[in-house]
Amino acid sequence: MSKLLIKHANQLITLTGSSEKPLTKEEMSNLHIIEDGAVYIEGGKIKSVGTTDELLELYKNCLDGVEVVDATGKVVLPGLVDPHTHLVYAGSRENEFNMRLNGATYMEIMNNGGGIHATTSRTRAASEEELVEQSLVRLDRFLLHGVTTVEAKSGYGLDWETEYKQLKAAKAVGALHPIEVVSTFMGAHAVPAEYKGNPDAFIDLVIEEMLPKVAEEKLAEFNDIFCEHGVFTPEQSRKLLEAGKKYGLTPKIHADEIEPYEGAELAAEVGAISADHLLRASDKGIEMMADKGVIGVLLPGTAFFLMTEAAKGRKMIDSGVPVAISTDCNPGSSPTCSVPFMMNLACMHMGLNPAEAITAATINAAHAINRGKEIGSIEEGKRADLVILNVLNYMQMQYHYGMNHTDTVIKNGRVVVN
Ligand code: NIG
Ligand code: FE
Repeated sequence: MSKLLIKHANQLITLTGSSEKPLTKEEMSNLHIIEDGAVYIEGGKIKSVGTTDELLELYKNCLDGVEVVDATGKVVLPGLVDPHTHLVYAGSRENEFNMRLNGATYMEIMNNGGGIHATTSRTRAASEEELVEQSLVRLDRFLLHGVTTVEAKSGYGLDWETEYKQLKAAKAVGALHPIEVVSTFMGAHAVPAEYKGNPDAFIDLVIEEMLPKVAEEKLAEFNDIFCEHGVFTPEQSRKLLEAGKKYGLTPKIHADEIEPYEGAELAAEVGAISADHLLRASDKGIEMMADKGVIGVLLPGTAFFLMTEAAKGRKMIDSGVPVAISTDCNPGSSPTCSVPFMMNLACMHMGLNPAEAITAATINAAHAINRGKEIGSIEEGKRADLVILNVLNYMQMQYHYGMNHTDTVIKNGRVVVN
């Protein structure tokens, strides 16, 4: 059984006591830091957490064969968790980025057959092997940025054959790569060209033909929809998310991304685990989310890349919404794998403090994909997913912005990046 001791961390960020439910309000700023911290790992699990002196004393007679990592001058965090990505797709859309810089809007491009439709065509044409190959490149990038778990949505098929191919590719890459991949079905990501003008019929197809197959083959844990003006209405979204629940799929929702559309309210009403984006969420919607404990997944890279006003992260935290951070990694609105840069942006554009950004990208992100009991904090019994940062204290992670401070990544107790 592999054994590993990390010692002398300048700051060991444990986030102790957060496994049961996501952190809210002031709790989000309390990182439970151990100075000169140490972690002892055995068989992929965290066995002990304490100061270096305490752990060296505890294990003094059994350090033979233990791999030791010296984290002097560094910060140790729980492995970062990305709870919202569109990991599996083919191709890229830098041409649209260029069009947007020349004045076109995201929705104009999509309504003219580009955007999600462009990636859908490329993804339909790709083989499962090609999707695996392209997704593994992205997973490597995530890992190099200290990310040890990602959620991955389907939604670039918009027909069963391709949705199935994407979901299988997501499972395949999760098995091939150190990063754990958690799947979400997002058959209702856009109205496909074949159903243009008839979104209701497409929603019926997703409900009747796709959901049962997703459930039968256990291809996903979550069910997501793009609830947006010109895409799917709140009524269509409610219908799909309620239908998914009957198949054991937990609702998630792309809510109030481009225009206010009562997506946050709907998330609270259907009991979604998270509502994501929320750039234009209403005050009432934010209150309802806080009331029902719906996690607000902030995607600061999307606002940044679409060059629009960011979601009101500060207000959400102050209102009691448990907040998480994610890349939204996708070829149109956020082609990045850098969770640390998202944390920088959350501080600079959404009003989070550096401690809240860490909570949002670790334990709250884990809760947003129903993994709060297994990952997201450094506590005895949890999976040994850790990242060591080459900074003296956690604030420097945000202060020296736009850089990758990842020094070492440990996944399931194994050093996978150093
Ligand atoms: O989360 N809004 C919908 N879906 C993605 C963008 C997908 C794309 O442009 O390819 C998002 O922003
Ligand atoms: Fe998204």
